Amino acid sequence: MPVICLPTHLSTESAKATGLGRRALLTAAASVATLPHLGMATTRPEITLRFSHVVAEETPKGLAANRFKVLVEQRTGGRIAVQVYPNAQLYGDLDEMQALQLGAVDLVAPSLSKFGRIGLPEFELFDLPFLFENLNAVRRVTQGNLGNKLLTGLQRQGLVGLGFFDNGFKQMSANRPLLEPIDFVGLRMRVQASRVIAAQMRALGARPVTLAFSETRQALATGVVDGTENPVSNFWTQEMHEVQSDLSLTDHGYLGYAVVTNQHLWQSLNNPDREIINQALQEALTFANQIADAQNDRALGLLRQLGTTRIHALHDSQRAHMRQAVQPVYQQLASRIGQDWINALQAALHQGSG
Ligand code: SIN
Repeated sequence: MPVICLPTHLSTESAKATGLGRRALLTAAASVATLPHLGMATTRPEITLRFSHVVAEETPKGLAANRFKVLVEQRTGGRIAVQVYPNAQLYGDLDEMQALQLGAVDLVAPSLSKFGRIGLPEFELFDLPFLFENLNAVRRVTQGNLGNKLLTGLQRQGLVGLGFFDNGFKQMSANRPLLEPIDFVGLRMRVQASRVIAAQMRALGARPVTLAFSETRQALATGVVDGTENPVSNFWTQEMHEVQSDLSLTDHGYLGYAVVTNQHLWQSLNNPDREIINQALQEALTFANQIADAQNDRALGLLRQLGTTRIHALHDSQRAHMRQAVQPVYQQLASRIGQDWINALQAALHQGSG
């Protein structure tokens, strides 16, 4: 039984060519895409889960998705198959969530910064600059009540949140060192679709330009934008070092993910299958959290070895100036994120920290 999905580039072209809206095309894909969940011949999987994501396989997310596939297929003897589509092969940032809601894919793991624009702005709290001292502090949020509450809120959009996991801390790149707020003035910086990140760039004196991840390298290469931010594993695997001369190790913000599925699919699974899938996923996410730091360190090592990008460590005073420059973002974005969420965040961060 074929699985018909609409790759991003084709679907955009098809939408233009047919005059049909993108939503109509996605709906058409979704009606076909539900077919693999029906029973199938014994030699073929009974259920095929399509896991779409936008990054390379050699990243924490790519490796976690592949680990999940192996675990599910091993534990079900292939009765449940997982097809992983990395690198925005199927859907990019702009449409993967919609594709999930329509059932055209079964699992996605967008960065937490990308939930605000689907009506869940509280997820943007993770984007507050210089919020987390380290990944343990992140865990106090994601693995506690606040994390559970955030995942439960996904129901408002017909989604089921299955868990959080890390990429790591973001660094700044451009064709110049970015060590002090003054260095950002006048730069067009690519950002994810998060108002908090946009405000952070404005506070530094840059102009934020929201672009899909899959368009970022090209935009840097052609000068549409001057710089960007990302953990080093994303910078390296997208070969951004070929189009950015400088990487400044600012560690100014966190990049993490939530794995989400569609309520309709989740409810259609029987309890034992749901349990196998959930267990495999939790193990894959633990694995991702264990390797995330190492993947970023590895990418930094490879970058240093290649020697084409200048890598800058910040002095404490430079970091302090940057931290000070972005402080207004907390106040400016409090009403978007929600003061109650921010209070709960502060409480979670202080729990066990003293
Ligand atoms: C990702 O890691 O999923 C992409 C992050 C980005 O859009 O910058």
